[in-house]
Formats: sequence, structure tokens, C-alpha cells
Amino acid sequence: HDLEKTLATLKVDSDLPRKGGKLRSSRWFNIEDNPGMTALYIERYCNYGMTRDELMSGKPVIGIAQSGSDIAACNRHHLELAKRVREGIRSAGGIAFEFPTHPIQETSRRPTACLDRNLAYLGLVEILHAYPLDGVVLLTGCDKTTPAALMAAATVNIPAICLNVGPMINGYLGNDRAGSGMVMWKGREKYATGEIDRQEFMDYVGKGAPSVGHCNTMGTASTMNALAEALGMALPGSAAIPAPYRERAQCAYVTGERIVEMVHADRKPSDIMTRAAFENAIVANTAIGGSTNAPIHINAIAKHMGVPISLNDWDQLGFHIPLLLNMQPAGEFLGEEYYRSGGLPAIMAELLEAGKLNANVLTCNGQTMEANVRGKQTWNRDVIKEYNNPLMTDAGFVHLQGSLFNSAIMKTCVISPAFSKKFLENPSDLNAFEGSVAVFDGPEDYHRRLDDPATPIDDSTILVMRGAGPLGYPGAAEVVNMHPPGRLLRQGVASLPCIGDGRQSGTSGSPSILNASPEAAAGGNLALLRDGDRLRVDLTKRRVDILIGEEELARRRAELQKKGGFAVPENQTPWQEIFRRETDQLSEGMVFRDAVKYQRVAQK
Ligand code: FES
Ligand code: MG
Repeated sequence: HDLEKTLATLKVDSDLPRKGGKLRSSRWFNIEDNPGMTALYIERYCNYGMTRDELMSGKPVIGIAQSGSDIAACNRHHLELAKRVREGIRSAGGIAFEFPTHPIQETSRRPTACLDRNLAYLGLVEILHAYPLDGVVLLTGCDKTTPAALMAAATVNIPAICLNVGPMINGYLGNDRAGSGMVMWKGREKYATGEIDRQEFMDYVGKGAPSVGHCNTMGTASTMNALAEALGMALPGSAAIPAPYRERAQCAYVTGERIVEMVHADRKPSDIMTRAAFENAIVANTAIGGSTNAPIHINAIAKHMGVPISLNDWDQLGFHIPLLLNMQPAGEFLGEEYYRSGGLPAIMAELLEAGKLNANVLTCNGQTMEANVRGKQTWNRDVIKEYNNPLMTDAGFVHLQGSLFNSAIMKTCVISPAFSKKFLENPSDLNAFEGSVAVFDGPEDYHRRLDDPATPIDDSTILVMRGAGPLGYPGAAEVVNMHPPGRLLRQGVASLPCIGDGRQSGTSGSPSILNASPEAAAGGNLALLRDGDRLRVDLTKRRVDILIGEEELARRRAELQKKGGFAVPENQTPWQEIFRRETDQLSEGMVFRDAVKYQRVAQK
């Protein structure tokens, strides 16, 4: 392989026709346009050494939306990369304004980082709308930082391009690859069985974070940055470059150059993020084994863009696509092999040849998706499979409905053969199973009662998590990947089916039905379940049903209403209260209901 080859795909066209019309920043900085105020707008930017001439030169002013900080550790390397972005902007004739976005750190933000996706979105919308910016480089990486940035770009609709911070280099435990996030789930099981002690647990998990960058597995970070590229909002080949590699900083430079050209060409998110581009993202998500958080975020971006995308689209367009990328959690490799094997363009090349992509969509480099990826097939078939010889067929999400909820999804490519054999009525086919449930009211209740012998769990139980949706656990917790109690793990029962109204970490390989909407706290029937109730899950029919009569359910509903409804923890901060008041359910992308009516705000 040749690393420079992938970089070559980053070369951009520089002969775009310059579109007429004044730059947006002239409303601030052009004295003809704004004789009364320009002096005031200019003077404060001069106080750190900018000159009046450069601000009034009519050159594009480009924002660099800095999402890295000491708090936002996954994105922290952007503090370095932004310097190269700035140099790219300068060399292409632009003026760079770097500013901070609301930090989001997936692993340490309590109660959950997803609570801040909409906060970062709102903050970024205000900045992009209110300041003299002609275009923006969105510095993305950790899970929610990417959708927050794309949602804001969609709402404001000024020229925008994403630059991922890049995955960490591979971690190792001995000779085995230690994928970030995944070592956490494995370590937790080893600790639960007593195989390792507390100190060893800490050391074990630490191996999953060997360098700067975001998670090196195909968790939500790798997924969302791959999908930003699949949408056409990041340079082809850019998503997979590991954070510390020199190509990452080279890519930062080219991205800075490119945004200036995009401003001259007036290439806006609405030109790129069309229905056809979203369809490509859905197809790509299956081929990479992408995170179950992807539908939430992609549907949210689409809603802010004004493009109709539903969970049925995910099932209809995505389910029958095969899994092509052999990367954890669905496969065995990590970010470095993903990059060295050609990254996303090599996967898109397979999908294109198979006729599964909308080839003629515009991307941020001014080329079509087809021009970017045709002929970019991999040189390493261990990592990226041929379309006709995949790791798994029908590897997408199924969209489930029924009497337990109106909507939930299941990622099928992480269902192991052992699990199918044990649970499915016909293991050769993805079909149906029944079981009785053990019900937990939020993650604290799960941790408290999981190993209690009084909790009725055997090797055929369905674990149910409720009170973990956007209202129940503000932001929706990543807690539906539940492991069996220690006593069953020690007997070799590695996993039980899980169902819940919360989310699941993208790094989890657990066979789970997730994002159930409406959640228990929003009046969903999950609130009516009790330990020992039976459920039927029929994946072929796309249904999950409670095997209890309507009368009994009505009686339980009346009882719950008398108690004042499903109990949720109190708000701890003003933001939690606002979030709970404004947000929609996971099936709707968890967007703020009233925010989606604001479209293309920079043009108004
Ligand atoms: Fe930030 Fe995984 S925790 S990328
Ligand atoms: Mg996560």
C-alpha cells in the first residue's frame, strides 16, 4: 500500500467559477455597505494585530469551529490541527477566525454527552448566524461533536466543510487489538467474573486509548465522521486518517484551502446534503458496520436540512446492504488498518460498482461522489471485502414496531452465531424469539439489582432497560448494552437479548433493540412491563409485542396514571429542564421540535 496514494485523493479542483454577489462578511466590514457601524465592527478585531486593510479587503472570512479543549479530550488534537487549517485558509486568500464551540466529552460528561449535542448545535447556530463569517471549517471527532456541527451547518447554510480529528492509533493487549470502548465492555465482564481485579481493570481499559484522537473502533465517532464524508461534507479519504499521522495535518491544510474555494463557488450545505446524499450515508453505514447512534444523528441533520428521512428509509435502503469493513465491534481490525486499506473511498467504490450509491451527487471538493471514489478499491481484502464476498449479508438495521413501542431499531451485524443458535426459533434465518423479561428502571437500578438473586434472570431472559430515553435520563443514556449477571457469565452465557428506550454505545457488540420510542417517560408501554412478563420479538415481521391482554395493560396504565406517571429524576440544571421541555423522541432524531422550522437562516 501507499499512504500517499490516499492523500492524493485529497487534491481538490481549484478552477471553480467564481460566483457573483458580495460576501456575507461585507455586511460587517464593507464601509460602503455599512457606513455607520463598520468602524466599530473593525476596531476590536484590530486590537490583537489584524489590520484594517486585511479586514476590509473583501477576502472571505472563514470560521474555524474549534471543538477541542482539555475537557474535550478526544478532539483536543484539533488545537494543533487548527494551525494547519489556518495556514490553508491564508494560502488560499482567506482570513481565519477561530472560535470555541461548546465542549462535548463522550466518556466523562454526566449524566450523558448526548444531552449536549443540541446545546452545541444551538450555540454554533448563533455564532455562524451572528458573526461576519462567509464559511466555516467544522472541527469534528468525538461522537456528538460531528452531528452537532452538521446540524448547525444545515440550519445556517453557509459554506461548510468537516475536518475529523482522526482515530487514535491501534491499542494492543499483548498481541490482541484493544479497541477503544470495546475494552471497557470486555473489562467490565472480566471484572464481574472476578478474572481481573480493580487495578487490572483500570490498566486493561487504559490500553484502549494509546494516542491523541477519537475512538479507534467503528463506534459513533468513526461512524459519524465516515458518514460526514459519505454525505459529501468532508474531503474524500479524510475521515479515516489516524490523528497522529502526518497525512492528518496535511489534510487539515487542504481542508483550509478548500473552504475558501467553496465560499468563492458559493457551495452551501443545501447543495451537498440532498436526499440522495442522505441515502448514500444510510447505505454506507451498513457497509462499515456503523453505530446505532447514526440514525438518530443523521435523521436530526436531515430534519434541520429540511430533507425527509425516516427510520423506514434506514430499513428499506440499508438492511439488505452487506457488511464490508472488518473493523471492531462488528469485525476484528481497528482504525489504522481501516485507513491503510483505503478508508471510506474503498468502501464507497464497492458500493458504487454494485449500483448501490447515488453516483451523481455533489461533494465538498466540487466533484461528484462517483468521481471521488471510482476505482478506489482496496489493496487489502482482509480488511475491506468485495461486495459479493462480504463479512455478512443483510447487515443493516431493522426498524421494529408493535405493542411495546412505535419505533425501535436493531443492529443485525453484531448478532453472533451463538446468539442466533440459542435464541432464534430458526437460527439459519433472522426470525423470532420469545422470552420473559427482567425490567430495570435506569442504569443505577440495573447495577443495583443485576446480581441480586431475587432478580429473575436465567439464560433465556430478555433484559429490559427503561427510563433511559431523552426525557427519562435527559439526553438518553447509552445503557441498553447490558451484560448478564456474573453467575451466568461464569457459566458461559456471554449475552442476553436487551431492549430499551435508551441508546447503546457505538462500540458495543450487544444484540439489542434500542432507541424505543415513545420512551417510558413519554407514556410508552415500556412503563407497563413487570418482571416475568413475556415478549415476542419477530424480526422478520419487524414487530415486538407484549404477550399480555389489552385489559390487563389498561388496568396497569390506569394504576400508573394514578401514581402520577412514570417517575423520572429531577432536573439538576436549567439546561436539563429546557432540554426535556423542547426535545422530541429518539425516533425523530431527538431534535428540538421548534428548532427545525428555522431553515437556511444565513440567507434571511
Ligand atoms: Fe470520544 Fe469515543 S469517547 S470518540
Ligand atoms: Mg458513546
